[in-house]
Amino acid sequence: MAWVRPLAPITPVGIGALAWPHLKPIFQAIAAKAPDGAPCCDWVGEGGAGHFVKMVHNGIEYGDMQLISEVYHTFRDGVGYSDDEQSEIFAQWNKGVLDSFLIDITTDILRYKDTDGQPLLEKIRDAAGQKGTGKWTAISALDYGMPVTLIGEAVFARCLSSIKEERVRASKILAGPANSKFTGDKAQLVKDFEQAMYASKIISYAQGFMLMREASEQYKWNLNYGSIALMWRGGCIIRSAFLGDIKNAFDSNKSLENLLFDPFFQKATATAQSGWRNAICTATTIGIPVPALSTALSFYDGYRTARLPANMLQAQRDYFGAHTYELEAKPGTFVHTNWTGRGGNVHASTYDA
Ligand code: 3PG
Repeated sequence: MAWVRPLAPITPVGIGALAWPHLKPIFQAIAAKAPDGAPCCDWVGEGGAGHFVKMVHNGIEYGDMQLISEVYHTFRDGVGYSDDEQSEIFAQWNKGVLDSFLIDITTDILRYKDTDGQPLLEKIRDAAGQKGTGKWTAISALDYGMPVTLIGEAVFARCLSSIKEERVRASKILAGPANSKFTGDKAQLVKDFEQAMYASKIISYAQGFMLMREASEQYKWNLNYGSIALMWRGGCIIRSAFLGDIKNAFDSNKSLENLLFDPFFQKATATAQSGWRNAICTATTIGIPVPALSTALSFYDGYRTARLPANMLQAQRDYFGAHTYELEAKPGTFVHTNWTGRGGNVHASTYDA
């Protein structure tokens, strides 16, 4: 009997990579296509990379939906636009930088009438469900130490919505601003919110790619970010014209550190920021919650700040817990100060969660 060389053990990781060349033509033939005909299906990476990327896709989906909901809320309760008027606004937006599946279905939802001729949307209970992929993304963000704040806020906004009875009780006793209606230039406000939504989406996608990059580095996935953006351009809930710009950014610089460093997105956020700030000021002044829009702006302002106030946090941690701190002039060297002159000369070990 001929000696048969034993096969190297095939791990689940290896099986995927071996199978892909055979499956690729089948999957790509039946996959959704981007507007330029490219199939929205590709090999993402070894060992669960595809699942992780799909999870982040869903987290971004939560963020996009929350942004749309915040605009709808401000327009409905702060400005007094009818659902039909909002449908027109979203339809216009769908012809510009916000062109996407979710904006498109929002125009349909806003104009859909129940059998009595009234907007069905206004009869739907304002308590959101969730199957968990947004929550997983937020948990991963905490685990990997990445500030994916917009998706986190989108998950928490669903949690807040679901405690409906408690909110109804609170609505009867907690004071809001004296003036809860917008009285300024409505056309300008619509423009401001379009910019606010666009800039916030840029931040959300930048945060999602930050999370994927961190996981990719830890697991050596070698993710191709341009190809991920391409896969999301068609056949999925977050598909949008804007993903083409993200693909271009990663195609023109394969080692792009952050989407916000790309010249196109630098310019886009710079151009949008005045409307973005006005929109958030307006909503805040009239008491409409805009957690996703405002966390995006806070992230943007934090990310572009060379010196954040974390020196204060470090001093406080060292004061109450002897956790030590680094001096700006000597990064990597941890020291402790006896801030009160009392107690012994001890300090806690240095570790980070
Ligand atoms: C989806 O349909 O895209 C996901 O299942 C998200 O569903 P969820 O909003 O219930 O989490």
